[in-house]
Amino acid sequence: MSDLILGIETSCDDTAIALVSENGDVISSVISSQIEIHNEYGGVYPEFAAREHIQTIIPTVKAAFDQAKISPKDIKGIGVTRGPGLVGSLLVGINTAIGLGHGWNKPVIGVNHLRGHLRSADLEEQRVKFPAMVLLVSGGHTFLAQMKNPMEVQVLSSTRDDSVGECFDKVGRMLGLDYPGGPKIDKLAHKGKPTIPFPRPMMDKGLEFSFSGLKAAVSRLLAATDAHEDADVAASFVQAIVEVLIKKSERALKKHPSKSFVIVGGVAANSQIRAAAQKLSDKMGVELCLPPIKWATDNGAMIALATWDYFKAGIIKPPKVQLNLTMSEF
Ligand code: KG4
Ligand code: ZN
Repeated sequence: MSDLILGIETSCDDTAIALVSENGDVISSVISSQIEIHNEYGGVYPEFAAREHIQTIIPTVKAAFDQAKISPKDIKGIGVTRGPGLVGSLLVGINTAIGLGHGWNKPVIGVNHLRGHLRSADLEEQRVKFPAMVLLVSGGHTFLAQMKNPMEVQVLSSTRDDSVGECFDKVGRMLGLDYPGGPKIDKLAHKGKPTIPFPRPMMDKGLEFSFSGLKAAVSRLLAATDAHEDADVAASFVQAIVEVLIKKSERALKKHPSKSFVIVGGVAANSQIRAAAQKLSDKMGVELCLPPIKWATDNGAMIALATWDYFKAGIIKPPKVQLNLTMSEF
């Protein structure tokens, strides 16, 4: 098999490598997770993350090639996350990509991590119809963007403070749950009732997000009283998050008519967000595109697919290294 792109993703705590074909078929995807290492710190410990990437990256690349049963000479090029992310972690992926590119005489292109998430909804199957409204909800970012096509992205908002994923993880820690708290809060919320009136920050206007006030409200409540069941706190917290995300998405869809409504990033795995997004899509007459949960969290396949966009647009002139590290461009 030839004409595959090798995607390398090391922006945070996963060493994620994949080989992906031009139409988004994932021929292999291997993720070496560091969750066990960071668990005891209640969040990602950047220095340990970088050191662990150093240990695991070459074996993980090898595992991806073994799984695909192809040799490096058969690939078209290498795409690597160039940011945003933890600098020590990013450097391991970038330097590995440059080394492999030189050794194998293949072009190397740096890809924005968020562009990778935006493209994850088309992995394995072309689901997105353009123009598409995309809600990106990850551990590091929260924003709405409209994509006119795979290359043209107009970012419509951002968060003034915390990302929604960070808010999930911090509230998880307050409730004594292991890192990352998001999936555990998701489960716990189903056992409780949303009886606590947490704030819905910046819900009434605009497309900007803010989650630090909500996080602080949960912290204040837990410090003031232990009268509430943890499950009710989780249910009330998730309800506040869902209402804000859906209200802002509805506002964006009204202002920027779109064919698809896409939700990407790790928090897109949340069951209540998925259910509420379906209701909104039915109401607005748009097609809901949710990547399978395994592509919603960080992976190498989304970076490989985003790299294909550059090849298709003719931006890559082999065998150069084009990292664009100084560019703030998306
Ligand atoms: O996109 P991602 O894998 O990493 C970043 O690029 O940041 O997102 C990780 C985030 C974490 O904050 C995690 O708690 C959250 O996604 N997450 C969830 C769920 N699954 C993962 N949050 C809420 N509900 C879930 N089911
Ligand atoms: Zn991510």
